[in-house]
Amino acid sequence: MRRFVEKVVVITGSGRGIGRAMASMFAREGARVVVNDVDAGPAEETARAIAEEGGAVVACVADVTQPAEAERLMDEAVRAFGGIDVLVNNAGITRDALIHKMTDAQWDLVVDVNLRAAFNCTRAAARTMAVPNHGGRVIYVSSVSGLMGNPGQINYAAAKAGLVGMTKTVAKEWMRYGINVNCVAYGLVETRLSGEKETAEEVAGEKVGIPKKIRDQFLANMGGALMTPEQGAAPVLFLASDEAYGVTGNVLNVSHGLYI
Ligand SMILES: NC(=O)c1ccc[n+]([C@@H]2O[C@H](COP(=O)([O-])OP(=O)(O)OC[C@H]3O[C@@H](n4cnc5c(N)ncnc54)[C@H](O)[C@@H]3O)[C@@H](O)[C@H]2O)c1
Repeated sequence: MRRFVEKVVVITGSGRGIGRAMASMFAREGARVVVNDVDAGPAEETARAIAEEGGAVVACVADVTQPAEAERLMDEAVRAFGGIDVLVNNAGITRDALIHKMTDAQWDLVVDVNLRAAFNCTRAAARTMAVPNHGGRVIYVSSVSGLMGNPGQINYAAAKAGLVGMTKTVAKEWMRYGINVNCVAYGLVETRLSGEKETAEEVAGEKVGIPKKIRDQFLANMGGALMTPEQGAAPVLFLASDEAYGVTGNVLNVSHGLYI
């Protein structure tokens, strides 16, 4: 099935994890993909892998927490491929701590990457997308943390819940342009964000991941296994497709049972 022939798809944070899987899957279905990441190596490696498979792709290294960088990303999509059909606001990060231990820096970084960046990118894309009869899709990447709360994630849960309000607002504002706007809320997907904290890698100086005891409890509610990045990405492709014509303003729970 090639549902996205010639469509231009911009995916933030697509150097790794679920975003990377989305980029590859969109490209295999004919999309022209703009890979973005704050980290140059993963962004370029993702683009190289897609190009080797024959996909149309450019990499744009940009920190989307910065409004001017988000604008540069959208300009790159227009320069390379002539427009934007699908924007996936996927970049995310965690900095977990119980509220009484959470620092201002942890709060600010997580809200900036998960919420502010999505606003920056949507506003920057508006210059291209928010025109009569444009059509297209915007998809936000949230988490079940934002729907059910999660101890140790006041920053992340608040930011991810904020994306739900953003989704519904942009859905209402952009209906007039023929643009559907939806949100996916993930449970646990196998990436560096969801590894065991005890053995996790550091991201910008802090370990990410989930303490093993808590992770095991989550897994018990998910049939014992995390979703693969591809399993996480597939519903996003559905939301971006023509089949989702009637679907807008929704939060799609993609948690494989973690949150019901
Ligand atoms: N993995 C899970 O279990 C899970 C669960 C719920 C929600 N999510 C969400 O899914 C999305 C993808 O996460 P993932 O699990 O693939 O993690 P990941 O760490 O593998 O990928 C996230 C990517 O975002 C990039 N990024 C971070 N800050 C950025 C910035 N300022 N500008 C541009 N790129 C930036 C990172 O460099 C990284 O490559 C995130 O929004 C995350 O919150 C993931």
